[in-house]
Amino acid sequence: MKYLIANLKEHQSLEEAVTWINKFVNTLRANSHVIDALRSERVQVVLAPSAPFLVTFKSSVHEFPNVLLASQDVSGFMQGSYTGETGGHTLRGIVSYAIIGHSERRRYLGETNELVRTKMQNAQTANILPILCVRGSEDVLHIERGMVAYEPADAIGTGKNYPVETVEIFRKQMQLPVGIPFLYGGSVDSQNMRLYLKSPHIDGLLVGTASLDASQVNILLLGVPGGDHDGPNLSDSINVMSYDMKTNQLTTIGIPRDVWSETLHQKINAAYATGEAIDPGKGMTLAKAEVSSIVGIPIDICLVIPR
Ligand code: 13P
Repeated sequence: MKYLIANLKEHQSLEEAVTWINKFVNTLRANSHVIDALRSERVQVVLAPSAPFLVTFKSSVHEFPNVLLASQDVSGFMQGSYTGETGGHTLRGIVSYAIIGHSERRRYLGETNELVRTKMQNAQTANILPILCVRGSEDVLHIERGMVAYEPADAIGTGKNYPVETVEIFRKQMQLPVGIPFLYGGSVDSQNMRLYLKSPHIDGLLVGTASLDASQVNILLLGVPGGDHDGPNLSDSINVMSYDMKTNQLTTIGIPRDVWSETLHQKINAAYATGEAIDPGKGMTLAKAEVSSIVGIPIDICLVIPR
């Protein structure tokens, strides 16, 4: 199983968070092969929004198998009079995971390995699996349950993702116990993700910036390998063709292969038919807009080939 974790950090307002989760949910609904991949446990998706939005996200994704939630932190205090803290007692039953020891918390809030250790213990006591973030060997702690995410600080938010080979070497050095998934995070996007997911030594990705755009998450998700589906290659498209008997024209529209589904097919046809009914000749414009709104990227290629 491959893991895809979206760390939304402290970026979203309420309105943005709601728009984000709606877009995410709508794309999943339109892509049955992704739901199949989730159900058959080829992929697990973990969403980590800001704490106030966890419950909204949880109720939005409850219809999907294997889409879980993570908090971005957990308090060092389990429960009690600790104003402003959110501990294991509060998060229990809401999240499955907690991101712990992120380099941004170490850097801006002075978190030490000692505190990280306490947080890991508290999370596990509350039945929450830690996602332990490590910048390098200095942060590697004993871990019995949960996951480890290798996130070199100079790769975070810089566009300078680490080469797959370097990540693989680090994993080897860590000598993780069997059964602890090893993830990579640091400037992962829909272009480079496939390189990591192809590696048998990398079990998943922890994504920051690219996850802020729900359509990027959807593209990432749609590109998770499984079955005959081996990852995103957006230059690789499926061309849908229609032949108009009246004008004697053959029309094709190119759709990134990774976002194709039966539902999408039906929606495009419906949009095309509606467009033609309203204004003959405009069907393809509507069909393109329909695809574009679903995948969240412009559809540039649309060829009309006269016969
Ligand atoms: P970026 O994907 O923006 O580099 O952030 C990675 C990260 O910090 C995930 O926790």
